[in-house]
Amino acid sequence: MKAYRASLLWFAPHTDAPVRACFEEDGLLLVGPDAAGRQVVQAIGSWRTLAPQYPGLSVEHLPGRIIAPGFVDLHIHFPQTNVIGSPAEGLLPWLENYTFPEELRFAAPAYGAEAADFFVEELLRNGVTCALAFATSHSESVNALFAAAQQRQMRMITGLCLMDRHAPPALLNQARPGSRVDATEQSLLDSEALIQQWHGKDRLGYAITPRFAPTSTDAQLSGAGALAARYPEVWIQSHVAENRDEIAWARALFPRSRSYLATYADFGLMRQRAVYAHCIHLDEADRTLMRDCASAAAVSPSSNLFLGSGFFDYAAAARVGFAYGLASDVGGGTSFSPFHTMLAAYYVGREGQTKAGLSLSPQQLWWQHTAGAGRALGLLDASGQALVGNLLPGCEADFVVLNPQATPLLARKTARAASLDELLFAMIVLGDDRLVERTVISQAA
Ligand code: GUN
Ligand code: ZN
Repeated sequence: MKAYRASLLWFAPHTDAPVRACFEEDGLLLVGPDAAGRQVVQAIGSWRTLAPQYPGLSVEHLPGRIIAPGFVDLHIHFPQTNVIGSPAEGLLPWLENYTFPEELRFAAPAYGAEAADFFVEELLRNGVTCALAFATSHSESVNALFAAAQQRQMRMITGLCLMDRHAPPALLNQARPGSRVDATEQSLLDSEALIQQWHGKDRLGYAITPRFAPTSTDAQLSGAGALAARYPEVWIQSHVAENRDEIAWARALFPRSRSYLATYADFGLMRQRAVYAHCIHLDEADRTLMRDCASAAAVSPSSNLFLGSGFFDYAAAARVGFAYGLASDVGGGTSFSPFHTMLAAYYVGREGQTKAGLSLSPQQLWWQHTAGAGRALGLLDASGQALVGNLLPGCEADFVVLNPQATPLLARKTARAASLDELLFAMIVLGDDRLVERTVISQAA
């Protein structure tokens, strides 16, 4: 058992009621192995009531620090670290001029291995303990990211990027030299081999990953859907309804589907554990489809603001009731920092507020990047509580130690916070990697 005394932030068990953050000024967090030997939260609460129940505990005291759940990034591209801050008129020229050329470099395994190490370290430095990430169309890039995460016992979900048209030829999935199996079929065989190699090993999960409908043929999307049906426990990730030109392109390529989003449903790619990035330009039938299929949206506000894609409609999502969580979408997104992403989400919510009288509270924003994102991933215990992104008993013990005095301005502002909401807002608005003093990953015995 390991015990920490500090201020504690976590979330009350999920119900239909509004999200409620719990805060204990002088708290005790107790971490110890579950039946499988994995470190999970054993107890959380006030020091005064809990400490007497555990006499003789050796306690790490962290005065002035806040322990909070590790952040969950619901959508990020590990090969796009170097793409951050590449300006373009919009999504499609950005892909063509910056993103595809960079992803081509991952054909060299050493390039991918170095990038994977940097990426995982950068996530941890920023307090992100779990991510659903894109790799490239090279199997080696998937192996590199899984290996880097496994070495640190981190929860990581990724998969081979499926693209068999409309990208530079060298970036499309490739047939094996001399093989009678074509590139499309090979991409599906490679995906299945990667599932068998990695899915469920330690804390790793596989995601079937068609990049987006325009870069896959019908055959590749239907093969991906068949794979998803054979492996219901693996994730699915893709992009949808991010940009007007992208939507027009997808509609032209798949005219038989009712909408761009419905294209994925028509190929068997909407179900639980399917996460679609962006979901900006949806209509009411699309939102209902998201809800009825139990799929989730990865809301990527810094990316959407940077690329000029549009604004996720929080009011409509709440009205229809489909799952969503926050994502950096690096390298369309501008930062690895969950604080920057939460602030961008707040700006996006303000745009919605003028339409629908809705403003995102700091507790809501923080939840969307922790327990809410864990729920959207479908990483739940038997009673339906998120296993990641929270610190309720039974949750995997991934957490951050925040130093609210990390900068002079943070210290000045957080000292004046008169409520939990004021404290959280101060950190969301002023925070970055300097606020994250330490990131702790749940270890196995
Ligand atoms: N749509 C297809 N590929 C991408 C990508 O790499 N980033 C974003 N933001 N959108 C995409
Ligand atoms: Zn993306």
